Amino acid sequence: MLSIENLSKSFGGVHAVQGVSFSVKQGAIHSVIGPNGAGKTTLFNLVTGVYTPTSGRIMFNGENVAGMSPDALARRGMSRTFQNLQVCMNMSALDNVMVGSHLRLNQNLFASMLRLPAVRRADEACRHDAAELMRFCGVGKYIYADADQMSYGALKRLEIARALAAKPKVILLDEPAAGLNHTETGEIEELVRKIAQSGITVVLVEHDMKLVMNLSDHILVLDYGKKLAEGTAAEVRANPDVIAAYLGAAA
Ligand SMILES: Nc1ncnc2c1ncn2[C@@H]1O[C@H](COP(=O)(O)OP(=O)(O)OP(=O)(O)O)[C@@H](O)[C@H]1O
Ligand SMILES: [Mg+2]
Repeated sequence: MLSIENLSKSFGGVHAVQGVSFSVKQGAIHSVIGPNGAGKTTLFNLVTGVYTPTSGRIMFNGENVAGMSPDALARRGMSRTFQNLQVCMNMSALDNVMVGSHLRLNQNLFASMLRLPAVRRADEACRHDAAELMRFCGVGKYIYADADQMSYGALKRLEIARALAAKPKVILLDEPAAGLNHTETGEIEELVRKIAQSGITVVLVEHDMKLVMNLSDHILVLDYGKKLAEGTAAEVRANPDVIAAYLGAAA
């Protein structure tokens, strides 16, 4: 459903992503790993429209979406979370999740201002969906809480709930387990599996190798902006280039 073809992005002299190609199968959990600075977040920013590629194509359900805005991509069914939390702390937890669904709601400004019944109904449905998603993501006890009352681990899951509120076909998760303890990481693993089982394709960037190896159908390894290897967990784990990139050439 997603096919990246010869994608590159340079920032001045920094070649953050260089000629990367890979395909993500519908319904799969596809991980992208690599050392710090390998280009993983840049790749996500290209695929989700935050950056325009220097060159290359991004085919999403048969359409080249390279250079499209994040809004346009969200409407086509692409959703994401961020490596650094992007939660509005002065809003309620539920409102944060509802932000994710607003791209879907095609509301007329005047109708909204007049609070017409149709708008109120759409808003209620949206609130109901957001609460359901919070429960699905294991943060149901925060439905009536403000975001600033939530723990860091709970906020990471709130972000996933917000990304799901857009009803995506594919969700890109940038380090969902970063900064989490062992138990919380296990809960994220379960949640990612549940998301995939619900029919949403998952692209995952993560440094926690146990999580990656347990979850992934397919793994792409980046190093210095280039594809170093790809394959199943077993193939990637046994690849000498991958071991060297992570542990240093001496290994
Ligand atoms: N907006 C930008 N301007 C200039 N350089 C950038 C920009 N964004 C990323 N880079 C550079 O591109 C390279 C890849 O960065 P990127 O954030 O994609 O790495 P990453 O694989 O996500 O690393 P990490 O695991 O630490 O999150 C780095 O050298 C980084 O400094
Ligand atoms: Mg990153």
